[in-house]
Amino acid sequence: MRHTTPLLAPSILSADFGRLREHCREALQAGADWLHVDVMDGHFVPNITIGPPVLKALGTLKEETGALLDVHLMIEQPDRYLKDFVAAGADILTVHVETCPHLHRTVHAIKDLGIKAGITLNPATSLLAIEEILPYVDLVLIMSVNPGFGGQKFIPSTTDKIRRLRNSLNALHLTPYLQVDGGVTAQNARTLVNAGANVLVAGNAVFGGPKSVQENVDYLKRVMVAA
Ligand code: DX5
Ligand code: ZN
Repeated sequence: MRHTTPLLAPSILSADFGRLREHCREALQAGADWLHVDVMDGHFVPNITIGPPVLKALGTLKEETGALLDVHLMIEQPDRYLKDFVAAGADILTVHVETCPHLHRTVHAIKDLGIKAGITLNPATSLLAIEEILPYVDLVLIMSVNPGFGGQKFIPSTTDKIRRLRNSLNALHLTPYLQVDGGVTAQNARTLVNAGANVLVAGNAVFGGPKSVQENVDYLKRVMVAA
């Protein structure tokens, strides 16, 4: 069963950084809803990507298209950088529960900065870890790969995890966004929406492969909405 019109959030990690703004603009003009920005620190995950200045450079796209900047922080001690990412234009900041010993404090610090607070779990982290914080969050991201790289293979057990989270949210009458990230393709998008996800992140499936970004977005959106 579909819960709200599902949204597509292209991950900029798979975009061409040499023409990042143009590549992202193509995705948004083709109908993508948000931009998913993957921030990695080389400590929490084995890769280093980008920080606030690059996010800031995408700010004009926000004005042009109304798209939200959805920032996924794969960094240790995220509390140290929340203000900087909000100043650079983040609309949603998502932190990993594995990096936040005081998750309640971190979630409220994000909300106090006037934006949406998201939480996320690695594939091996149980949904039990977020039970107490669920009523306070605007978004829950279920990782369907081990974070660190784009273009990895979807971990199949994630679908059931999404279904279980959707059931818990329904039972609690809570409606945060339920996002899934990693290995999302046109082949599994429909199953993920049917399981209860309403924001799909896709990097390679939007910016990779032989087809144009417009064709990729069109196809993904059609598959998602048909779910
Ligand atoms: C993984 C990142 C994802 C990833 C998605 O650490 O959080 O956002 O780049 O890319 P694909 O869709 O290619 O798996
Ligand atoms: Zn991500």
